[in-house]
Amino acid sequence: MNTYNTARNTSSCSGDRAGHTPETDARTLRALVDFERGRLDRRVYWDDAIYRLELERIFARSWLFVAHESQVALPGDFLTTYMGEDGVIVTRAPDGRIHVFLNSCTHRGNKLCLAEVGNRRRFTCNYHGWTFGPDGALTGMPQEEVYRRTCPGFDKSEMGIRNARVESYKGLVFATFDDEAESLEQFLGDYRWYLDVLLDNDPDGTEFLPGNIKSRMNCNWKYPAENFCGDSYHAAWTHNSGAVALFGHGVAKSNQENSYQVNMNGHGWQFGLDMIGNAMVLGEQDIVDYLKENNARFAARLGKLRSRMVGAISSANIFPHTSFLPGQNTFRTWHPKGPNGIELHTWVLVNRSAPDALKNMYLKGVMRSFSPTGVLEMDDGDNWENATQTNQGVVTRQQKLHYGLGLDSRVAHDELRGSIHLRKYNDSNQLAFYRKWMDLMCDDKGANAWRE
Ligand code: FES
Ligand SMILES: [Fe+2]
Repeated sequence: MNTYNTARNTSSCSGDRAGHTPETDARTLRALVDFERGRLDRRVYWDDAIYRLELERIFARSWLFVAHESQVALPGDFLTTYMGEDGVIVTRAPDGRIHVFLNSCTHRGNKLCLAEVGNRRRFTCNYHGWTFGPDGALTGMPQEEVYRRTCPGFDKSEMGIRNARVESYKGLVFATFDDEAESLEQFLGDYRWYLDVLLDNDPDGTEFLPGNIKSRMNCNWKYPAENFCGDSYHAAWTHNSGAVALFGHGVAKSNQENSYQVNMNGHGWQFGLDMIGNAMVLGEQDIVDYLKENNARFAARLGKLRSRMVGAISSANIFPHTSFLPGQNTFRTWHPKGPNGIELHTWVLVNRSAPDALKNMYLKGVMRSFSPTGVLEMDDGDNWENATQTNQGVVTRQQKLHYGLGLDSRVAHDELRGSIHLRKYNDSNQLAFYRKWMDLMCDDKGANAWRE
């Protein structure tokens, strides 16, 4: 008998409200992925109990990308975003420190900050007027004397908003609500060596261009994350008609010997050396020329090998849900909104020192390709939404999915780091993503940490 809860029938869930059901014990979870043969149970894409466990064990425990430092460059600058489904405020205090705290008033839980971005020294709740500082501390309350008179022992310092731990890597700000989590340095590990291709090919570093596209898709968050992590196989098929529409020719089918998938700690990066394909997708020859003209400079900074990755055809995902296309420079986070939905936040990342005209070209190119009206985003979104929906069928769900391409492709390499797999048509990064996912999902340390 199939006892799985369906995403459409959450009220019948038999577990407690944190999502612990017999269906999500470690043994049942382990059976969802066959890493030896490369098979995946479709349940991971639609089951509400699994989804709620993901919020608890993945999103409330991992380091999550929350902002680029350039978005909160000045004291008082703030933005609102999510960590899992928890709303948070990211803001820079007068002392320059970046704080991330829950976007929920500690009085009655009202959403504290309704704006998406801005500059404020303090945040005042719309309901009863409690005011919080840039570190989440409660600093003011209307008619405070009433509390002093009638509420013995009331201590304002106990009513500050819960902060996340915050650490940065070369402009990218991450936060976690897990006080016991490893450091960001350990979490990223050797992935930092690859991130430098994007973040450190120029001494002045990077910035996000102003503005942020927010859109919704009716798909499970893992589809786009695993796609960017390593699904280069889809590109020549899914995006062929889009490429014809944009450029007058289709996507080249290539699976060259000098292309790789690398992964570590669930993070993935797939790339082909010397193929400035991503930058070409922007449809701006000036960008391709900029990358070619500056290649020697990149090589001096990053070494020859990594200079061949700048702008190359590639895609990447920082576990769990932050993806980017190096060279094309779209940078995005797939915020989970239930098992069947995401809110996608998209930015354009550029070298701070790049000429303004070039930055504008990046912006336009990303709009044309990877935005809600972008040709390539529509290609992908349609597939992810359809896959999420069909996986829920009561018969359909019984047949496992295939993730077994290139299981024997692991190679050694003198310079590349992490687990290295030859050729980009490969499921190795996606399986590595699910290995990390499985480790976290089955780890019940602090299972009670997010429950009252
Ligand atoms: S809910 Fe925020 S002040 Fe009352
Ligand atoms: Fe795609």
